Amino acid sequence: MTPTDGQQLTVALSKGRIMKDTLRLLQQAGIPVPEDIEESRKLILESSDRTVRYILSKPVDVPTYVEYGVADVGIVGKDVLLEAERDLYELLDLGIGRCRMCVCGLPGTKGGMVSRVASKYPRIATNHFRNQGQQVEVIFLNGSVELAPLIGLADGIVDLVETGRTLAENGLVIQEEIAQITTRVVANRMSFRLKSEQIDNFVTGLRQVTEQKVQAILGRGEQV
Ligand code: PRP
Repeated sequence: MTPTDGQQLTVALSKGRIMKDTLRLLQQAGIPVPEDIEESRKLILESSDRTVRYILSKPVDVPTYVEYGVADVGIVGKDVLLEAERDLYELLDLGIGRCRMCVCGLPGTKGGMVSRVASKYPRIATNHFRNQGQQVEVIFLNGSVELAPLIGLADGIVDLVETGRTLAENGLVIQEEIAQITTRVVANRMSFRLKSEQIDNFVTGLRQVTEQKVQAILGRGEQV
């Protein structure tokens, strides 16, 4: 498990939902980002000053790249981190990609009554029910898990709820909240020591922007 060579910082970014907000935060923090990063189909891009190299990855693979040290730092959702249980340092909560991990099902079925759930997050689901002393069979699905209770594959699901629209449009309800989810910055343990200055600058910049955003929200009397 060796970190990337040299003094360039390699950052694994999660493609998809949180990409736009992540790039905005990086830019606001003054971290150099390649101009064409959103349009390009390249999977590895360097900043023009070559201080940062970005790996564009499926979110689920970000913890793997960081644990094996092929990326020094990763930006990824807490849902993925909880499921992956990788050996990483979690350095910062960016406060973006806010959603909830929930047990959901058809109205009238109680969370405590499920005996079979479908989920893209089998470890989170298994741990949750085990901690509650419930015997529940967990079936792994790759996506569109809301289908499972509708077609009789499972009594419930463990899945992310953001706006609640997917649940509502499929006649499902939240039965129990398992965890609040946001996007995190993680680091490889060895890189954290060998590239401490670069990682510190990276995290400090992002922390300042994140704290300014929180203060602005509180200043407007809104909830974070
Ligand atoms: C996620 C999640 C829910 C949906 C929740 O799915 O698994 O299905 O978003 O969002 P909402 O509360 O705003 O409706 P995603 O779009 O990532 O696709 P997937 O179902 O294929 O995983």
